[in-house]
Amino acid sequence: MKVLVTGGLGFIGSHTVVSLLENGYEVVIVDNLYNSKMDALDGIEKITGTRPKFYKLDCTSVSDMDELFKNEHFDAIINFAGYKAVGESVKLPLNYYQNNLDICFALFRAMEKYDVRNFVFSSSATVYGLPDRVPLTEDSPVKDATSPYGETKVMIERILKDMAFIHKERNIAILRYFNPIGAHKSGLLGEDPNGIPNNLLPYINKVAVGVLKELSVYGNDYETVDGTGVRDYIHVVDLARGHVLALRKLETNPGLVIYNLGTGKGTSVLEVIHAYEEATGVKIPYKFAPRRAGDVPINYAATEKAENELGFKCLYDIKDACLDGYNFQKAELERQKEKEEKKVVKTL
Ligand code: UFG
Repeated sequence: MKVLVTGGLGFIGSHTVVSLLENGYEVVIVDNLYNSKMDALDGIEKITGTRPKFYKLDCTSVSDMDELFKNEHFDAIINFAGYKAVGESVKLPLNYYQNNLDICFALFRAMEKYDVRNFVFSSSATVYGLPDRVPLTEDSPVKDATSPYGETKVMIERILKDMAFIHKERNIAILRYFNPIGAHKSGLLGEDPNGIPNNLLPYINKVAVGVLKELSVYGNDYETVDGTGVRDYIHVVDLARGHVLALRKLETNPGLVIYNLGTGKGTSVLEVIHAYEEATGVKIPYKFAPRRAGDVPINYAATEKAENELGFKCLYDIKDACLDGYNFQKAELERQKEKEEKKVVKTL
């Protein structure tokens, strides 16, 4: 089976490519390198022994997608391409709506023209908005999201549902991710955002390696176990495997299916800090700060549907994810130092 992975050099995309290759799929990656690096392709090759075909393309381009689909004959698409920074999306809503929707329109048009029947979409628990109750099952109401980024997920889910209604021959998996964290055990793939990270684990990683001084914990007066926000943190390698299982499901022609991908366990910010310290032996200095606008107090997944219908079960826990994330961050820092040194030698 030949699979197009858009955004395949990004954090979740690159881990999914590894998982697909390990399970015998042929993979073609498209990425515009907006938020990713070519190093990820080298990492994928080192881990799997295969260097998948790579195209540096922008998925918003209808003509580029047309050309690509004409040449490649895909059986399935996994779409990771898209902007994903919640805070930035509030400041630049038009960019988010235009980019994330245009990517889907270009892909859907190409799917239609070249009769590609299987599509996996990276959605997010953000579509549940402020939950009435937890754990969140897949039939919990989809609400107004708390950011334009989240709203693009709601909109694209809606478009997919309308398409599936009329195209019974299509198979579509909507995967709602909870909080993906961690990195590949090899230290070759992981998440290293430019600048100050918005998300908890990337921030903690930078504190752990000494790049940032201390963590701000946003809010300690929520109605949760210790007053700090509770989330469902899933190891990115588990999440990646979820995509392989979703593709297998699509091979049975199920039409449109929706699954949560989470662990089913809620962990507070303070619990994350403690797990990180235990797993790595590194102390994480932190201070309490006011609540962050748009944050929900608590969310975690109901996992029964994915377990019963896909056979999906997480193999790693929060400490595994903390340790793998830390090791990746250390290795990445070394790699960046080496690159800088090489640059200095060249200019001397
Ligand atoms: N947090 C801190 N300090 C930080 C960063 C985060 O205390 O520096 C807290 C947040 O307040 C929250 C928890 O850590 O309680 C997790 O925050 P993240 O930013 O890591 O993750 P979110 O749950 O806010 O966001 C994630 C994804 C989004 C997705 C959203 C909803 O990153 O893409 O879940 O599903 F939209």
